[in-house]
Amino acid sequence: MIFQKAKTMKLGVFDSGLGGVMISRAIRDHLPDLDMVYLGDTLHVPYGNRSEKAIHNYSKNCIEYLFTQENCQIIIMACNTASASALRKLQQEWLPKHFPERRILGVVVPTIEYSIDRGVENLGLLGTNYTVHSKVYLQELQKINPNITIHQVNTPLLVPLIEHDGMQWMDEVLDHYMKPLMDKGIEAVILSCTHYTCLKDRVRDRYNIEVFSQDEIVPVKLKDYLNRHPESETKIGKSGADTFLVTDLTPEYTRQASRYFGKDIELSHVLYKDTV
Ligand code: DGL
Repeated sequence: MIFQKAKTMKLGVFDSGLGGVMISRAIRDHLPDLDMVYLGDTLHVPYGNRSEKAIHNYSKNCIEYLFTQENCQIIIMACNTASASALRKLQQEWLPKHFPERRILGVVVPTIEYSIDRGVENLGLLGTNYTVHSKVYLQELQKINPNITIHQVNTPLLVPLIEHDGMQWMDEVLDHYMKPLMDKGIEAVILSCTHYTCLKDRVRDRYNIEVFSQDEIVPVKLKDYLNRHPESETKIGKSGADTFLVTDLTPEYTRQASRYFGKDIELSHVLYKDTV
């Protein structure tokens, strides 16, 4: 009898754009052996100013692609905007019907848990229009610890500045966004967007407060999840392979993604059915 080795699966990291490459880097540093595939929806970034329907459908298309074409066992929905808009519905309605054995993990609850563990009671949050208006952080926090306050500011200029080499204007824009939070006497600020990871040192230095950045949160929470869920963890290959996929490819994306990952990487262009 010939025994066929079961095909190993991957960990997927999904983001609206290139910010997810920084989360992938951080995951790779924490979990060097996991086979991982990143998918950035560069065709539709930024998600933050779009409608709920558009964000939901773009996210679903990307998640479906990662399950069907890349054989992902677990997908980290690294994008806060997508987590705010699409995660619950996908987890509760779509996943059980289509991929009951697979998992989609968001970033909002892990970030809140981390913030609570740090003992902070007066928090600030910078996020995209969609994330802030969705109030997802306020609602999830209310369920876990209603005694903690979050003051939110929506920061629609940050993603375009980051994606288009606008760092020279960043301090001025950040001062504008941070002022109402500093006036409230916040003890720490949550950077609730994958892209803002690259601002964490700047924010720490400039405002001298604690900064909760998801590249420092997601890998630790993921490792803990994998330890608690061996039935999923054992299905994921352990050759340390990396795959980087985008829905629109330009030389500029390749340059930026390599910078965010800290070494030259090859991006591949994927096509999927585009529905809104
Ligand atoms: N990556 C998204 C997030 O984490 C922000 C970028 C966008 O607007 O698409 O919220």
